Amino acid sequence: MKIGNVEIKGYAALAPMAGVADRAMREICDSFGAAYSIGELTSAKAITLGDRKSESFLTKGNVKVFGGQLFGTEPETMAKAAVEAESYNPDFIDINMGCPAPKVAGSGGGSALMKTPKLAEQIVKEVVKAVNVPVTVKMRSGWDSNSINAVELAKACEAAGASAITVHGRTRAQMYSPPCDLDIIKAVKQAVKISVIGNGDITDGISAKKMYDYTGCDFIMVGRAANGAPWVFKQINEYIKTGAILPPPPLEERLKIMMKQIGLMQKYKSDITVTLESRKHAAWYMKGVRNAAALRRMCGEIKNLSDLEIICEKALAEGEDM
Ligand SMILES: Cc1cc2nc3c(=O)[nH]c(=O)nc-3n(C[C@H](O)[C@H](O)[C@H](O)COP(=O)(O)O)c2cc1C
Repeated sequence: MKIGNVEIKGYAALAPMAGVADRAMREICDSFGAAYSIGELTSAKAITLGDRKSESFLTKGNVKVFGGQLFGTEPETMAKAAVEAESYNPDFIDINMGCPAPKVAGSGGGSALMKTPKLAEQIVKEVVKAVNVPVTVKMRSGWDSNSINAVELAKACEAAGASAITVHGRTRAQMYSPPCDLDIIKAVKQAVKISVIGNGDITDGISAKKMYDYTGCDFIMVGRAANGAPWVFKQINEYIKTGAILPPPPLEERLKIMMKQIGLMQKYKSDITVTLESRKHAAWYMKGVRNAAALRRMCGEIKNLSDLEIICEKALAEGEDM
């Protein structure tokens, strides 16, 4: 697939996930074959006001291909922020039209842009004009079941100069739970010439292939299934290439991967932040371990990073949940 002039090699991308898919997770997923990743959503307004906190959201780091993601409501501010984001050398810039969080959608940004397609189009136009890298859009199927408009919005974004569209097949009202609507992704694919990336509920090779086959999409994007399981990209790549279903790595290996991810976090974040954030990542890695519930409780109480070693020992003593 191509995003503008950027060649994407592989089969699946890591989805942006605020507070989760940080630089460490993006790098780990890349090492398991994620073709590209998108950074955590970044406030256009904040970066134009000189906020440096979001720098790490926009930093490519050690991955093959990276997109920095912006959210906002004002075309001019978005364009200025895109120029700032471009100074971090992303391969492309992604505009968020899918975030359901009240903090973002409440002021008209993220998924709320699906309710104001003219403004959304204007934003894409201004950002495309402002930067030299390709511009992409990530959207949902619509705001709610009465306003499914991903096809119209995707066409407007294409006309405004977007190079690719990612569609998460749920409305804003659906948040993350009901099954993903593959028909809307298929409809968007049929309506535009630019690359379409299908997203929602892909957890393994079989669901990845279903997304490709049913929708005809050009690429797929995986979010939550990569939490505590970055090897999902290797599994998907292998299934699509050969039809083989790879098992997850053995427990000891999985725990090493977890420690590697948390080690990478330490390179990029303060100890206190890593300690707090390691709780959720470690809990995800307990999937497939016997007595996972008790281990997850221990993860929730991590007070310093040496607690992780105790958790690894305990997990190894428990063994695989057969
Ligand atoms: C915790 C969390 C944070 C997310 N943050 C973002 C974000 O910053 N930008 C964005 O476009 N989507 C965000 N999403 C949506 C995901 O990128 C993706 O569209 C969604 O999780 C569906 O894919 P999945 O079923 O593979 O998880 C987030 C999702 C989750 C669960």
